[in-house]
Amino acid sequence: MSIVDLVNGQVATMLPERYKKYTNEEMVEKIWAIKQSLGTKLFIPGHHYQKNEVIQFADETGDSLQLAQLCAANELAEHIVFCGVHFMAETADILTKPHQKVYLPDMRAGCSMADMADIYQTERAWNHLQERFGDTILPLTYVNSTAAIKAFVGRNGGATVTSSNAKVIVKWALTQKKRILFLPDQHLGRNTSYDLGIPLTHMAVWNPLTDVLEFEGRDDDCEVILWKGHCSVHENFTVENIRYIRDNEPDRQVIVHPECTHEVVMQSDDNGSTKYIIEQITAAPPGTKWAIGTEMNLVNRLMDVHPEQDIISLNPLMCPCLTMNRIDLPHLLWCLENITEGIEHNIISVDDCTSLEATKALDRMLQRP
Ligand code: 13P
Ligand code: SF4
Repeated sequence: MSIVDLVNGQVATMLPERYKKYTNEEMVEKIWAIKQSLGTKLFIPGHHYQKNEVIQFADETGDSLQLAQLCAANELAEHIVFCGVHFMAETADILTKPHQKVYLPDMRAGCSMADMADIYQTERAWNHLQERFGDTILPLTYVNSTAAIKAFVGRNGGATVTSSNAKVIVKWALTQKKRILFLPDQHLGRNTSYDLGIPLTHMAVWNPLTDVLEFEGRDDDCEVILWKGHCSVHENFTVENIRYIRDNEPDRQVIVHPECTHEVVMQSDDNGSTKYIIEQITAAPPGTKWAIGTEMNLVNRLMDVHPEQDIISLNPLMCPCLTMNRIDLPHLLWCLENITEGIEHNIISVDDCTSLEATKALDRMLQRP
């Protein structure tokens, strides 16, 4: 890519000035009008971590697994405006038909965890691990990863996982090969494997920055190789946060997402995916006291929707996921106006070859509910 392309590319992804001058009321009115005029030609999936100003326009909300399933099932919409982050929009593009276009309202809405594994690092790690362990490893990747990583996993017989189905998929993977390589979230991989009875001493960590396998045991005992990546949002919940709750409010239940560290998950009362957390709060009797360890937009929404319960964030200084938060009213309106004007912009398109291989990994996951 030349400097000129780079500059043009940056300019093209920048929000035009006029969107900064509209009031929120004007933008809300314009977005509803476009939604009404496009009808079922438009589908807006919204991840639970999106802010309320955006979620109000979502046709469906869900966690990453639910949204992937909803996109795969929707053959009607010509335009899928994904209110989430880049890897989710890529997954939607892979799972939808060629006549359907997927858009991300702000191309800067990435995921810091997905950025912790690139395909070159992964190929390098794979070569090293194959030399050391032979053909005994099945690769799995959290959906929070690039399409290229999903394709790598697909062509090597593996599958994608989400936090909702990680246990089922890891269990399956270990019937296929003696060990797994779990990308890119070490915490989800560790917490899931531990839940399935694998001791921590049988888990190694691959460091992609040094190309070193961190493992003190015997190679023969190594069952799980965890990629050294993490979510910068969920890593902010600490054992000190839990200790504070235990010391001050022993009747408050702590529930966390499995992207939190193993120590935090072990000391919590319960843990599970975004969907699981929502289900537990929804089912609890009025007056239940919760400290929730997950993304702040979701925690705030749970507080609004369940005033009958006493909900706080496990970390009082928690911020929302900053990349999820890039999707806002101005970017959503800009994206929708481009669609109505026939301007091809902010389209997420995965090439056919990558898509074909990534589909294998996604299908292996979607076939195992
Ligand atoms: P789930 O939607 O799978 O719970 O994942 C949480 C997340 O971090 C999404 O980026
Ligand atoms: Fe990525 Fe974490 Fe944000 Fe999810 S919450 S999009 S894993 S950075």
